[in-house]
Amino acid sequence: MHTLESDAQLAEPTRMSTSTTPRPAFGTVLADHMAVASFANGRWSNFDLRPVGPIEIHPAAHVLHYASTCFEGFKAYRWPDGSVRVFRMDKHVERMRQSARLLVLPEPDAKQLGEMILAVIDRVRGQVPEPPGALYLRPLLYGTMPNIGAASAPSNEATLIVLASPVWDYFAGGAKPLRIYVEDQKHRTADHLGMVKTGGNYAAAMGPTLAARDQFKVDQVLFCPGGSVQETGAANFLLIREGHILTRSLDSTFLHGVTRDSLLTMARDMGFQIEERLFDVQEMLQWVRDGEAALSGTAAVLAGVGTLVHRGQEHRVGSGGIGPVTQRLRSALVAIQNGEAPDRYGWTRKV
Ligand SMILES: Cc1ncc(COP(=O)(O)O)c(C=O)c1O
Repeated sequence: MHTLESDAQLAEPTRMSTSTTPRPAFGTVLADHMAVASFANGRWSNFDLRPVGPIEIHPAAHVLHYASTCFEGFKAYRWPDGSVRVFRMDKHVERMRQSARLLVLPEPDAKQLGEMILAVIDRVRGQVPEPPGALYLRPLLYGTMPNIGAASAPSNEATLIVLASPVWDYFAGGAKPLRIYVEDQKHRTADHLGMVKTGGNYAAAMGPTLAARDQFKVDQVLFCPGGSVQETGAANFLLIREGHILTRSLDSTFLHGVTRDSLLTMARDMGFQIEERLFDVQEMLQWVRDGEAALSGTAAVLAGVGTLVHRGQEHRVGSGGIGPVTQRLRSALVAIQNGEAPDRYGWTRKV
């Protein structure tokens, strides 16, 4: 395995550090092989599997100047029978292709990208941790056309890489309710690019997130520009109560999370009323008086929110702990991912 020591300090402040056997922070260890393909002269090359390591890039490459890049993030799990299963790979491949289209990057071929992912998982299958750990997959696409005068011209060359990273228990040391700052002025990203998983969106959220952490000791920022609730820097936002979920309807302003989609699909089948529509900060503050709130995403699946900080005032969410409905929904999805409950949706694929 390959440890990224210099990157360790860039990782999210970890919620796993109090475990008796400390594990490396999320994203700081890479599996030892990656798949690489390149696009030139209008076509994709075959991919090759190679040891993880530095890759040459021209200093005039489009991505370094004009941020032509997107990525994906999802997981493969080790099941009780020892097999390895990847969760909703096709959905992530499609989201990556959509990101590429919206950024006017060469679009990966769905079949080839799927083969690259499966080849990497197969090559490093011995490095897939037992649950609650998993193998995190990180496809990455960037424009390599060497031209520093291409601010408004797309890159006609690109590199596509699939990295893998063993990750351990996100909640080692115990899950803690999150403290979230409600930002009702600043935007996380340009409204037409929120649905694209591109580095620039994370760069835009970084400053406001660090400032709120510093000032209000929060974990994350919930972006609600103009008072309309969107999402945090790296997760979708759901309001939850018994039999009812309210979350923002899909539009271009935020990332269409695969975990969000999975939770909504599952909850609907469990008899929940699912409301997908716009809602504002005032309605959210009203809801959390006796309701629950949670963040959804691949890394943590569903993380309970305990406190919202809005304009310097603290609002306790329900009892201030992780809500019981949140815990039940999380357990139900994790059980499917880990092979402890039947997958009647066809979301898991044996590698
Ligand atoms: C901005 C943003 N929103 C939402 C999500 C959740 O998406 P998913 O459930 O597909 O992991 C992520 C993380 O992956 C993200 O970075």
